[in-house]
Amino acid sequence: MRKLEDLQLLIANSVSELKYPAYPAELYEPISYILALGGKRMRPALLLMACDLFGGDVEAALPPALAIEVFHNFTLMHDDIMDNAPLRRGCITVHEKWNQNVGILSGDVMLIEGYKLMMQVRDNILRQVLDIFNATAVGVCEGQQLDMNFESSNNIGIAEYINMIRLKTAVVLGGALKIGALIGEADQKDADLLSVFGEQLGIAFQLQDDILDVYGNPEKFGKQVGGDIISNKKTYLLIKALELVKNEQATDLDNWLAAKDFDPAEKVAAVTEIYNHLNIRQYAENEMQAYAEKAFEALEKINLPEENKQYLRDFADGLLVREY
Ligand code: IPE
Ligand code: IPE
Ligand code: MG
Ligand code: MG
Ligand code: MG
Repeated sequence: MRKLEDLQLLIANSVSELKYPAYPAELYEPISYILALGGKRMRPALLLMACDLFGGDVEAALPPALAIEVFHNFTLMHDDIMDNAPLRRGCITVHEKWNQNVGILSGDVMLIEGYKLMMQVRDNILRQVLDIFNATAVGVCEGQQLDMNFESSNNIGIAEYINMIRLKTAVVLGGALKIGALIGEADQKDADLLSVFGEQLGIAFQLQDDILDVYGNPEKFGKQVGGDIISNKKTYLLIKALELVKNEQATDLDNWLAAKDFDPAEKVAAVTEIYNHLNIRQYAENEMQAYAEKAFEALEKINLPEENKQYLRDFADGLLVREY
């Protein structure tokens, strides 16, 4: 197995070598801008690890790994428009630095650039790889639409929320691992189990993202803390709070959700206070842990040496204690 640091270095170097035309600048500059902001590069790392776990050629897996990262950054560019987000990875978002149209079209071309990279797999698996990539990309769109729909609904249940985050976030982790496993010539059963591991881990990952959105340290988080509260996102935290809240606090919470003109900082502080009172963070962390365990159960069943599986376990553990 290659060391994680080596894989991450390989990814960082290859991302920095991605070059796009100079003209029109408004179309291509935002791509280089958002990619240069960094991020954890977790999805390409998962793809390369999956390939390496089954003894595949990591160099051959590099273009599809970059494809997943470019695709992910395209989803972020559009997500920041949809979420009205001012900050990404500690820097101003593309639609704020340029404008919304630039964010839309630059994102569109990024999706296509992602496909161009994904096509650089060997011919005998090209169709299968594209099938997985297509299913992943459709899942993200479905999840993102549900996320938007849920903002204006106050009776979303936990199961609907989990399905929404499975689609918008978790399928990409599952897809990255499955593509990596395919390149590494894993058998179908192991590739499927690895994809289940990725999906369950992805659900835990998004739960953690939702926790950090409220409780993250603004210095480290890199995004606007409280953004989900401001836009009435139906995160696990809000859904659980709506379920548990009583009396005057219930009225308060309803009023904040219905408020049209408000001071964002005041709303974030008030809703966070309600969460704290109800111990919501603990509930969310327990839910996250439960999904991490489901992920590890799927991993258990894969036909791989114990030390290879430990490698993935360590990576997953690291993700779930992150601060950004
Ligand atoms: C952000 O993804 C979007 C979510 C699915 C939560 P990451 O947390 O992986 O973002 P970067 O790429 O590391 O910045
Ligand atoms: C991310 O959900 C989902 C996708 C980008 C597809 P969020 O909206 O929570 O992601 P962040 O918090 O802005 O990174
Ligand atoms: Mg967002
Ligand atoms: Mg979003
Ligand atoms: Mg978020």
